Amino acid sequence: MIRPFFILCAIFHNNGVSLSSKIRKFPDSFEFGASTSAYQIEGGWYEDGKGLSIWDIATHMDPSQIKDKSTGDIAADSYHLYKRDVEIAKELGLDFYRFSVSWPRILPKGLPNQINQAGIDYYNNLINELLKNNIKPFLTIYHWDLPYELQKLGGWINPHVVDWFVDYVKILYDYYGDRVKLWITINEPKQICYEGYGSTLKAPMLNASGVAEYMCAKNLLLAHAKAYHLYNQNYRKLQNGTVGISISCTWFEPASETIDDHQAAVDANQFDWGQYAHPIFSKAGHFPFELKKNIALKSAEQGFSRSRLPELSASEVALIRGSADFFGVNTYTTKLAYRDASLDGLYAVPSYMDDMAAVVVGNPTWPQAKSTWLQEVPWGFYKLLKEIKKNYNNPVVYITENGWSTAGGLFDDDRIQYYRNYLSVLHDAIEEGCDVRKYTAWSLIDNFEWKNGYTEKFGLYEVDFSREDRNRTPRKSAYVYKEIIRTKSLDTTYEPEINTV
Ligand code: NOJ
Repeated sequence: MIRPFFILCAIFHNNGVSLSSKIRKFPDSFEFGASTSAYQIEGGWYEDGKGLSIWDIATHMDPSQIKDKSTGDIAADSYHLYKRDVEIAKELGLDFYRFSVSWPRILPKGLPNQINQAGIDYYNNLINELLKNNIKPFLTIYHWDLPYELQKLGGWINPHVVDWFVDYVKILYDYYGDRVKLWITINEPKQICYEGYGSTLKAPMLNASGVAEYMCAKNLLLAHAKAYHLYNQNYRKLQNGTVGISISCTWFEPASETIDDHQAAVDANQFDWGQYAHPIFSKAGHFPFELKKNIALKSAEQGFSRSRLPELSASEVALIRGSADFFGVNTYTTKLAYRDASLDGLYAVPSYMDDMAAVVVGNPTWPQAKSTWLQEVPWGFYKLLKEIKKNYNNPVVYITENGWSTAGGLFDDDRIQYYRNYLSVLHDAIEEGCDVRKYTAWSLIDNFEWKNGYTEKFGLYEVDFSREDRNRTPRKSAYVYKEIIRTKSLDTTYEPEINTV
């Protein structure tokens, strides 16, 4: 039986973090941006020579997998409306715009023997338009839309993916590196590996938990590291940019003060984000101790001849360790973790969840977004930032995603409250020495929210998906974010006059 967690969690309030109402100024050098990704906004799914991605296949093969049976075929139509997107970025006063490149738009078959010039041109135009408007392009190389041709070969669980990825990356550095100085290699490894290969939550929905997500993790870390070293060796001197990775980090808090619950939270944090952060940002490198221990023990008990977590050789550990100029943090929410008899039989064996051996739950008293998984817990964000500082010797952190979903509508006071509260604790963390230098709102505009289709809206601007012109309209939160950027400060008393964007 699952524990009645609402009793357990009544003790948590703001957990010592003050949600201050005074005006709080961010450092002059601090930068604000907003983010999107290719499949979620572009559309143009089969236009001008683009190849198919695993999301094109997932949405077309079995539409019932997507809540509203929708696809990203047109999405927000940014393939045609990118100038309007840049105009919006300009209206908001963004310092940078984070977008991703669709691998199959550049390489329709995934491999570099056939480059799609129309795809190259599209991102050239977008980058030039941004620069013309004084907005820095922040380019994510991979945000989940793997070429289907590469999935046929196993995708992220085939070790050759490392070379395929590096070939693709080289093309982007070659074509865009003269103007793009901010690079993210890969967006959210856990969602790619666990959700895509260990479950059916994301394409390619392989559902081979306990094995596939760890194979994916190793390949992904190596692909990232090689892309980073390629930049160092061949491009950095000339192009002088910065290269990092965006890791999704949920904060897991022990549900009670027992040793078991404490350990459950430690393990959950290590499985969720330490799995990817520790090999890159820790002094020792390699997968975290908790991951190695839990998976090795369970694998032995289960009769496997070796741990289901692949080995990293000493040279692989060295290659991965230190392979980032910044830690891109995508963060949205917090969960409570506990460990007790209710775990018996709860998860499939073997599986990622069974290896982690924690029950993770929200708290019904926390403000709830439209997305079931998303609750507003600013103190969790604060604790996460402090933990990153402590564990990884205070790395340079860019918040590369943070945001709130609603069912729609222009008056989004809950989103405004979320942004203000998260920015307020971010300010606390900076004051206490966390080296956070950028903040990115998710998302610039409404978009295709993966298996939830268009039922969850994250945009600062609303997109009218029922209209052919995909008209974009600023929400109230857009006016508030614009003022935060303009003043580089948080003033919770500010009430926008609508229509001033
Ligand atoms: C993380 C992902 O990077 C993005 O694609 C997604 O839409 C948001 N979180 C919200 O779920």
